[in-house]
Amino acid sequence: MKKIVVLTGAGISAESGINTFRDANGLWEGHDIMEVASPIGWNNNPELVLDFYNKRRRQLLTVNPNKGHISLVKLEEQYDVTIITQNVDDLHERAGSDKIVHLHGELLKVRSQFDENLILDWKKDLNLGDSCEHNSQLRPHIVWFGEMVPMMDSAITITENADILMIIGTSMQVYPAAGLLQYTKANIPVYFIDPNPAITPSKHLTILSEKATVGVPKVVDSLLK
Ligand code: APR
Repeated sequence: MKKIVVLTGAGISAESGINTFRDANGLWEGHDIMEVASPIGWNNNPELVLDFYNKRRRQLLTVNPNKGHISLVKLEEQYDVTIITQNVDDLHERAGSDKIVHLHGELLKVRSQFDENLILDWKKDLNLGDSCEHNSQLRPHIVWFGEMVPMMDSAITITENADILMIIGTSMQVYPAAGLLQYTKANIPVYFIDPNPAITPSKHLTILSEKATVGVPKVVDSLLK
């Protein structure tokens, strides 16, 4: 089976009702990124950080996958599909995708600060005093700015083996995720789906300046023919 790798960003979840980060009323609206998504912000004001993620977690439980997430699942009929997402939502999981790599963590998980491998499923609010079995404060299982991206090495290996690459709904501004495009084999077809594509046209690159719910089904249908 040919391997398809799909790199997704906040744009694929936009039509599910989750704000992107860098559009007009972006998720950071009213917050400095470093205040709510960095170790410094966490040390300075943990309540603010917990409140920011509690609001996002509560909202995630009220939204659903959209046609963009759902049409990617259809690809699994004929291809070996791996989703590499920058998103911390679980919409790819709920749509039914089998193989998903979360580069920036998962909103519905928390982890111990004493043992970073102690990761718990967590759908309710996380508050100060919520501790792990080692009695250390639990934190969101999110990769904050300035932190390592533990899944990057596996994401690179997966991308190096791709026969087709799809990139959906990302401004390609945050590294190392945005650098994945450089790891593909030469001359494989790349499909870039974004209403405001942040990429320069090149050979083997098909750009669809469309929303995910329009562009993704189009590409999927063309790949399944
Ligand atoms: N369909 C597809 N793409 C869309 C849609 C849509 N309906 N609406 C907006 N977009 C596109 C925007 O044009 C933009 O290119 O989605 C992209 C969103 O870009 P960002 O907000 O920068 O989100 P992302 O690229 O995922 O950010 C990467 O930065 O803030 C950090 O960790 C955070 O994972 C995030 C990372």
